[in-house]
Amino acid sequence: MFDRSIKIAPSILAADFANFGAECRAIEAQGADWVHVDVMDNHFVPNLTFGPAMCAALRPHIKGVMDVHLMIAPVDPSLEAYAKAGADIISAHVEAGPHIHRTLQAIRGLGKKAGVAINPGTSVEAVAELLDMVDLVCVMTVNPGFGGQSFIESQVPKIARLRQMIGDRPVHIEIDGGITAQTAPLVSRVGADVLVAGSAVFKGGSVDHPAAYGANIRAIRAAAESAIA
Ligand code: DX5
Ligand code: ZN
Repeated sequence: MFDRSIKIAPSILAADFANFGAECRAIEAQGADWVHVDVMDNHFVPNLTFGPAMCAALRPHIKGVMDVHLMIAPVDPSLEAYAKAGADIISAHVEAGPHIHRTLQAIRGLGKKAGVAINPGTSVEAVAELLDMVDLVCVMTVNPGFGGQSFIESQVPKIARLRQMIGDRPVHIEIDGGITAQTAPLVSRVGADVLVAGSAVFKGGSVDHPAAYGANIRAIRAAAESAIA
């Protein structure tokens, strides 16, 4: 069921890497809507995280949506592995290769929801021909590769333009990078509905003290909702 209500998607990039299963259970119990999984290959982005085996291992610990953000190139040879690992949504970057249209066809062909991600230096016009074949557009508000970076405010008009381009299509606008209770209203106001947040969700908490996760998620959600007319 498609809806534009605000969804908070904690990025496990900011979780305790020795405790991923418990961290996924903790953030869901504390109100996370989706779990955002950042896959990095040390090639498309200058950092390395985890692959399909980790996603498969996490799957039983996630009751809701497993949102897999692939920051890898090439991407096509790995799609089947992430689909088999149990991803609900698989997003690929337009910058990761010359054939994003084929990539998105392949993701849907594997029976998964398809997302297309764009870097801060990429115009939204790059996704104009793809809007009828995606479930989500992910606008990066930091350069991908690392958590804890500052929100790039110049991306906000771009998000507004994307919202116009999407029109009535059932396509989510996901924002990834530097989302906090301070920046969330800037993007929800112009039409974003899925807010990825790593540092701002996990700060101050742990699997033994998960209440901080809940407070952080509620603060981001309340800030985002307050900006929607
Ligand atoms: C960046 C990742 C993000 C990001 C979010 O490459 O895709 O999901 O780490 O982390 P914060 O919220 O800390 O910016
Ligand atoms: Zn991400």
